[in-house]
Amino acid sequence: MPTITAADQAGLVEAARQARERAYAPYSGYQVGAALLTRDGAVFTGCNVENASYPASICAERVALTRAVSEGARDFVAIAVVTRNGASPCGICRQVMMEFAPEMLVIIADESQVVARSTVSDLLPRGFGPEQLR
Ligand code: THU
Repeated sequence: MPTITAADQAGLVEAARQARERAYAPYSGYQVGAALLTRDGAVFTGCNVENASYPASICAERVALTRAVSEGARDFVAIAVVTRNGASPCGICRQVMMEFAPEMLVIIADESQVVARSTVSDLLPRGFGPEQLR
């Protein structure tokens, strides 16, 4: 599992907590915040953004990932995800993480503490990735 410093982890979780406060979740009432750390130390955050047409909603993790990729960042070390109950990323988000960073550290936290640490590969065993299309 990739290692990051305790300070980097604490900073990333705090960034995800702050991003969660910007969640737009009027339908589910379930706010999610994510913060993605790149190898060069940049942090990209995301929150879930829901829509009256429910399937048009997007998860916090994919907002963070697409923001980062659209800014030219692809080398990811860790992502922190904060929810009220320490939930794990959904399957679609696991798949999108797998595309860029199968070995990335996934830090799962609730409002007060980290509840789990894992890698994308552990969360999506035998996942489908870019190498299958080569
Ligand atoms: N959600 C996320 O943002 N990330 C996940 O990994 C799971 C679910 C959001 C989507 C929706 O806005 C709300 O949580 C309830 O499903």
